[in-house]
Amino acid sequence: MHIKRPRGWEIPEHLATPESVFLDRRALLGAGAGLAASALLGARGAHAAAEPGLYPAPRNEAYALDRAVTAEKYSGDYNNFYEFGMSKSVLPAANALKTKPWTIKIDGLVEKPFEIGFEDLLRKVTLEERLYRHRCVEAWSMAVPWTGFPLSKLVALAKPASGAKYIQMQTFLDPAMAPGQRSFLYPWPYIEGLTMAEAANDLAFVVTGIYGKALPNQFGAPIRLAVPWKYGFKSVKSITKISFVAERPKTFWEGLQSAEYGFWANVNPAVSHPRWSQATERVLGTDQRVPTLIYNGYGEQVAGLYKGLEKERLFV
Ligand code: MTE
Repeated sequence: MHIKRPRGWEIPEHLATPESVFLDRRALLGAGAGLAASALLGARGAHAAAEPGLYPAPRNEAYALDRAVTAEKYSGDYNNFYEFGMSKSVLPAANALKTKPWTIKIDGLVEKPFEIGFEDLLRKVTLEERLYRHRCVEAWSMAVPWTGFPLSKLVALAKPASGAKYIQMQTFLDPAMAPGQRSFLYPWPYIEGLTMAEAANDLAFVVTGIYGKALPNQFGAPIRLAVPWKYGFKSVKSITKISFVAERPKTFWEGLQSAEYGFWANVNPAVSHPRWSQATERVLGTDQRVPTLIYNGYGEQVAGLYKGLEKERLFV
């Protein structure tokens, strides 16, 4: 997605993810080295403050995988979080993300706009764990246990008016904290959006945790989206504002290069990116390329959302 280095996603795994920087959390804790472990764990990424007892949340078995879960040592140091730089190893830089206090503003076409603290929001929802595939537009993929709650619950809390046709989600804007936002090459802040029908789909998931704990910063702490049938860039991180709007939002990537990254961005192996094929994907932590599936394998649940929209650029 980096416009100046379009083939950057082809960096060999051994360069992008040096094994030596990882620590095995379980082994350390198991050895009774609790204090030392927590000091060292800083190297694996700061965590949003976790409410005691929230994690791990019960797993919802309805969301099963056809593949192995990607180990955190791979997914947790191969991230896209442009606010903290264009490297896949944004983990150290993302330590600068300050997640406490964290407030989310709900505005636009709603009964009454309001702001809610992240912890207060957590008290209004029930967390569950779901195993989801994740397919980046750059043709790599992972499968992870997210913890969160359905986006439809957040929509219900917001009480949108009938004129609301889209939900727009925005990342924080703080160039002092996030060095990437000092670059004028990008149309900050990061904005993404869904139709109200997409937001109501069971698969659309608000994420607050991963691997049975609160989200480490590099994954988009403390609150992000997961829309697994779409390319990963739709899954906006570190959300601070949710607006209900009548017009289709202009998203961050559309603002940058609409020919390559559109509003719909549904996964489709048959529709190539202008610069590379989407037919297969490299699975993080393996040397394998596997075939990419239409809607990333979630067609049964989501294909119906696009009936009558065939003239749209649904797969870019
Ligand atoms: N959200 C913000 N705010 N900034 C980003 O750079 N990158 C997107 C998406 N959400 C991004 C973002 C892209 S391109 C992908 S593939 C996923 O986050 C990566 O999620 P992960 O790092 O948790 O794997």
